[in-house]
Amino acid sequence: MPTRAWFPTLVYHEPLQKSGLKKLNDEIADECQKLREFDQAGRQWSAKNYPGGYTSYASLNTLHRFSSTFEALERKLNRHVRAFAKDLDMDLKGRSISMTDCWVNIMPPTAAHSMHLHPLSFISGTYYVATPPNCPGLKFEDPRLAHLMAAPPKKANARDSNRTYTTYPAQAGHVILFESWLRHEVAQNRSDAERISISFNYAWS
Ligand code: NI
Repeated sequence: MPTRAWFPTLVYHEPLQKSGLKKLNDEIADECQKLREFDQAGRQWSAKNYPGGYTSYASLNTLHRFSSTFEALERKLNRHVRAFAKDLDMDLKGRSISMTDCWVNIMPPTAAHSMHLHPLSFISGTYYVATPPNCPGLKFEDPRLAHLMAAPPKKANARDSNRTYTTYPAQAGHVILFESWLRHEVAQNRSDAERISISFNYAWS
């Protein structure tokens, strides 16, 4: 093969655990609903910055530090983040990783979340709690898009690895991890129910 692939963009996608996901997600969903009721500041922030939806991103973003439910989730996620860092050949020997932020996103029908990245962290991700049929997935953008200059458009049947965007379906009980610089978005929720997810950032030291 004269042509080889370099500088891949890795995305990790796995079930959080082998069993018990339904019970766990019911518990987490219940806590998310209570948080929304309790978090007036978050509801106000969301009204301006997350139209139609609720996120605790700007108000309650260290949930793993004061909720046993989210602390337990953090412990489970740590294992996945370590596995992903290993796949990235990151040298974490003698170093530690830690969840720095953890917040709730509730997207009712019509809510959307535009293209963004996660500053001040190295691995970010989302855990899916409730994913009604036809709810939007997580859409990633080729990080080299700004450098494409005069490249011709891609073929309609381009290989998956050569596409400019890729969308992972949101699947309750699954974790998606990516390097924090990778831009992503969630299209409008066209299902008829709420889509619930937990997002988080990790740092290393
Ligand atoms: Ni995000």
